[in-house]
Amino acid sequence: MSIEQLEDIAQAMVAPGKGIIAIDESNNTIKKRFDAVGVESTEENRRAYREMLLTTPKLSDYISGAILFDETLRQSTRTGVPFTKVMADAGILPGIKVDKGPVPLAGFPGDVVTEGLDGLRPRLKEYAGLGAKFAKWRAVIAISDENPSGTCIESNCHALARYAALCQEAGLVPMVEPEILIDGNHDIDVCYEVTEATLRSLFAALYEHNVLLEGTILKASMVISGKDCPEQAGVEEVAEATLRCLKATVPASLPGIVFLSGGQSDEAATAHLNAMNQLGAKPWPLSFSYGRAMQQAALKLWAEDMSGNFTKAQDTVYARARDNGLAALGQWKG
Ligand code: 13P
Repeated sequence: MSIEQLEDIAQAMVAPGKGIIAIDESNNTIKKRFDAVGVESTEENRRAYREMLLTTPKLSDYISGAILFDETLRQSTRTGVPFTKVMADAGILPGIKVDKGPVPLAGFPGDVVTEGLDGLRPRLKEYAGLGAKFAKWRAVIAISDENPSGTCIESNCHALARYAALCQEAGLVPMVEPEILIDGNHDIDVCYEVTEATLRSLFAALYEHNVLLEGTILKASMVISGKDCPEQAGVEEVAEATLRCLKATVPASLPGIVFLSGGQSDEAATAHLNAMNQLGAKPWPLSFSYGRAMQQAALKLWAEDMSGNFTKAQDTVYARARDNGLAALGQWKG
């Protein structure tokens, strides 16, 4: 894979008015989501649910790619068509979650570090062979009075850089995701400080590891009030603070930034993205890579009628994709 091909994939991921649907929940996470709607998390139910999402008619109007979990990348539709073929035919790029999740960081209570580097090179080679075009790694930074430590930020960014370099070696675009968690009672200024420190550390590490920024996508969390903060910043404040923080830390050579929804409501995730895109010229396209904010309405409808009538659930997936696609252009009307 040439440098130009990596750059082309990265640019296609953030094509104007398009974003990513994240359906890469690990088996532990999807079990929690299924439990909430009374569905048993069997391999067949997970397959059927993801088939419903991936076969939404005209999804590619607003969706450039989908992030899958290992199991999903290997699955097929009920009639036996591999999901990767369904996606290729629809013009949707397959992505793959490659991290193994966060574990406690020894010596730093409350901090976590993401695992998954051991054996990553052959896994990436296999994923590229199966048709994946990009790969995601999520680092988790929690905020409390004692967290995060500088060591937590550095360790996570070092791992992100090592994974990103391995991705590019394998011909996959890395989607680097340092998620600052929304949990806690901190205010938006604390979130700003932690986000700024994390992104500075991340781009320093990517530079040290010879990662080609032109072939990399940042998946960022928004600068936002902690979930339990008594004073919640409004839409304009979140948009302004997020954009200010990104402009201070993210090189202009990056092809694009996509956001995670991180526990925001569907409406808030769309409104924040739209407000940022109304704030005038920026160095990179700002789009979405939402999991919950793309799926939660559809999951409920699908769980109510798993018999095969996907229409209502798929209409919701399409509507969420359209709203967020418009927000990526600053054209969402609410
Ligand atoms: P949420 O949008 O639900 O935060 O999920 C995005 C994601 O991929 C988390 O890693």
